[in-house]
Amino acid sequence: MTHSKSRMAACLLTLAILLAVPPSFAAGGNTDKFKRRTGSGDPVAGKVASQICQGCHGVNGNSTDELIPKLAGQYDVYVIKQMRNYLAGTRSHEIMNNMAAPLSDRELADIAAYFADQAIMKGNGAAANEKGKNLFLKGNISDMVMTCAYCHGESGKGLDPSTAMYPVIGGQHKAYLLKQLRDFREDKRVNSPNVIMNRIVKSLSDTDLEALAEYISVQ
Ligand code: HEC
Ligand code: HEC
Repeated sequence: MTHSKSRMAACLLTLAILLAVPPSFAAGGNTDKFKRRTGSGDPVAGKVASQICQGCHGVNGNSTDELIPKLAGQYDVYVIKQMRNYLAGTRSHEIMNNMAAPLSDRELADIAAYFADQAIMKGNGAAANEKGKNLFLKGNISDMVMTCAYCHGESGKGLDPSTAMYPVIGGQHKAYLLKQLRDFREDKRVNSPNVIMNRIVKSLSDTDLEALAEYISVQ
């Protein structure tokens, strides 16, 4: 087993235990990573259907507003889950709660495929701060035996499309990341499976979260 495979296995194992349900993804078989990132939707139809979304999230999924997340190269599975969560009110945001309502499953799959199909989000490549890097890669995170990198990958670009429940975060806007991390810590966002993210960041200080958001955003 390679280092990264064993890391991924550790991550999956832990999450499977935490969720106490079998993971919904199957290992092996399909080697077409690209196809698995975009899922069953049609990116061409999604380009048209996502016009209203592009107004805020950017034509290629690279938004310019720091509080509007980039969706470029984000896993379709994650995007679809978030939209369903906004619709159900299990994730709340005044704008996004209304956005999900008029979409059919087909349209949503197409829109998610369109954003997943874009070149993956990228930070400005500035030198990563040591504090954030240490926390992200080595951690000292509450009672968890894992670091952020276990689930989100070393640069936060996700592990593999077969584990698409762990979103791409590397290269995301810093202000958006910081808001999400604070919302998890303060239980304002509680839609992660088995509130795993809330538990992971619970004991982190403001300066820890700031350093992490900075580190992740430059990737
Ligand atoms: C008026 C601006 C606006 C429009 C239009 C808009 N969004 Fe958003 N979207 C936002 C903001 C702001 C957030 C961050 C919300 C939060 O902090 O929870 C967001 C969050 C999201 C997220 C969560 C991303 C993540 O990384 O967790 C997804 C997915 C998303 N939007 C998809 C869409 C789709 C699909 C559409 C079109 C149907 C759309 N949005 C239209 C502003 C917008
Ligand atoms: C056990 C796996 C696991 C670990 C470890 C983990 N995460 Fe997550 N993280 C997730 C999952 C799953 C989600 C998606 C939650 C959802 O479905 O809403 C997520 C979501 C996020 C988001 C929100 C992304 C977005 O676009 O809104 C951020 C930011 C994040 N994690 C940062 C971190 C940081 C920083 C660490 C380390 C301190 C970390 N994560 C550790 C599994 C993990």
